[in-house]
Amino acid sequence: MCGIVAYVGHRQAYQVIINGLKRLEYRGYDSAGIALLNGGLNVYKKKGKVADLEASLKNEGHLNSHIGIGHTRWATHGEPNDTNAHPHYSANKNMAIIHNGIIENYASLKQDLISKGHTFQSETDSEVFIHLIEHIKDYEKCSLDEAVRLAMTQVVGAYAIVVISKEDSTQLVAARKGSPLVVGVGEGEYFLASDATPIVEYTKKVVYLNDHEVVVIRGGELHIRTVEDLPITPYIQTLDMELTQIEKGGYKHFMLKEIFEQPKSLRDSMRGRINADKNHLVLGGLIEYQQRLMNAQRIVIVGCGTSWHAGLVAEYLFEEFARIPVEVEYASEFRYRNPVINENDIVIAISQSGETADTLAAIELAKSKGAIIFGVCNVVGSSIPRATHSGAYIHAGPEIGVASTKAFTGQVTVLAMMALIIGRAKGTITESKFQEMITELSSIPDKVEHILKTTDEQVRYIAEEFKDAKNFLYLGRGYNFPVALEGALKLKEISYIHAEGYPAAEMKHGPIALIDEQMPVVFIAPKDSSYEKIVSNIQEIKARKGRIIAVVTEGDTEISRLSEFTINVPQIHEAFSPILTVVPLQLLSYHVAVSLGKDVDQPRNLAKAVTVE
Ligand code: AGP
Ligand code: GLU
Repeated sequence: MCGIVAYVGHRQAYQVIINGLKRLEYRGYDSAGIALLNGGLNVYKKKGKVADLEASLKNEGHLNSHIGIGHTRWATHGEPNDTNAHPHYSANKNMAIIHNGIIENYASLKQDLISKGHTFQSETDSEVFIHLIEHIKDYEKCSLDEAVRLAMTQVVGAYAIVVISKEDSTQLVAARKGSPLVVGVGEGEYFLASDATPIVEYTKKVVYLNDHEVVVIRGGELHIRTVEDLPITPYIQTLDMELTQIEKGGYKHFMLKEIFEQPKSLRDSMRGRINADKNHLVLGGLIEYQQRLMNAQRIVIVGCGTSWHAGLVAEYLFEEFARIPVEVEYASEFRYRNPVINENDIVIAISQSGETADTLAAIELAKSKGAIIFGVCNVVGSSIPRATHSGAYIHAGPEIGVASTKAFTGQVTVLAMMALIIGRAKGTITESKFQEMITELSSIPDKVEHILKTTDEQVRYIAEEFKDAKNFLYLGRGYNFPVALEGALKLKEISYIHAEGYPAAEMKHGPIALIDEQMPVVFIAPKDSSYEKIVSNIQEIKARKGRIIAVVTEGDTEISRLSEFTINVPQIHEAFSPILTVVPLQLLSYHVAVSLGKDVDQPRNLAKAVTVE
């Protein structure tokens, strides 16, 4: 995964890069490193977080430089240690590289380079890339950017790279294929980064690089060429992002900030799409494809993790409102089968980051089979929205905590809007039902605000009570079965407590064997069409002495009699209940992790954007 940053201009590169790496640390935090042209080409790198690197350089007096590159790593090849940290030098130490991605044919390239006399310091695939560039440069006697371009024709895999060289202190050469890279264009200065967050405080002018492009920044000028050596005119866009959006704003963690931002992010998801009279709903990206959507014989949804859970909710939504059969697939599984995709199928790819490698690969596969692909993404300008035919952004604003929260509620909201639009166009829901549903949808932000106000303290108390549990079970039915999965995932990833989500009725076919007086069981049981059934499931757990925590609709007395704790959420149409019921579960995982002293925003082994397959 990794985050990369590079700078050339009038500022102190070290500070720009350190600040930038901190913003990108969500992408990986196994090690961090910087290379600066300060007299020579010097590399400073260290296992651990950016703060560890910074601390190790506290007494380093020679960090003065106006050009440099930096990296925060999520290791794929070689354990996280100082040597495997990036940047990596070329053999003659005249150049250094930072790399995000995986070089699939690194082993054969390495063998070849070893036979030519190269020796390697690290176990990484990335070091091979810079040695290859060096070899080509020496052999062809060409410029650095030409050597990078030629190296790209030999390297198989995914990468965003930046190379710095002793030969020119105004020059950075970068390239991408499969991993993201953004160029920030300031006044006489340039930035390169994995996303726009390290750039936004300096300039809002950015160029999103496309795959197979090489960038050269030299002597204050920016040039882009394709790997086929064709010149590209940079398309400069203006960022729609404010610095405050990517800072903690008084919250202890990004995750907590993002949970509490949901009333606003949900309003933003609906803004401009639902009219004031609540009788009209538009998603710009759907207009051109509306007929195709109405005629779709099947919708295939692909995504990973939380986005896959949002897809599961969407399955219920599309089937209920638009009467279109839906299949929800893990992107990583979908792409390795030989899936049957027809031209009348619609594929919806869901992704917060818009960079998830498995989802991108699934899109490419579906495209090659002639399907129309819609993206439901959060990060504007990321790779998935650019790889899809059309789509809708969720407009949740930057999500930085590794555990996805506001993106999930935004995804479900946008998918619900899609289902309603198609249902109305097809006539599978009546006009009055349509209007009733939009009114319900519009009420969600206020209801989420109410949940946050009324349940946070209580959930904190519950978290304290259960924080030492070794396992958790989450059970839900219908629309709230995916919420059970999502609640369990949230707990696992940030508190490292084993948790499983299950359909409540399925529990009696196996997991019920786990129930004893130690086992916390979280029921998601709002008043909906399966209410009576889930009450029976609660009874079954109670009879076996499981400890019951239930998320219920306000005013419910039946379940509160059976449970040790009940958490209330307001009444809402069951189709939208996941957007409410998930909120206390987000808080539960947050408070458990905090009380266990875990690193909430940067849980071990994880990274925010999984840009490797
Ligand atoms: C969610 O909390 C996880 N960190 C993870 O499962 C995530 O949802 C998944 O990696 C997909 O990411 P995406 O939405 O950016 O594609
Ligand atoms: N493959 C490189 C490494 O292991 C980069 C990792 C990444 O981008 O995730 O260091």
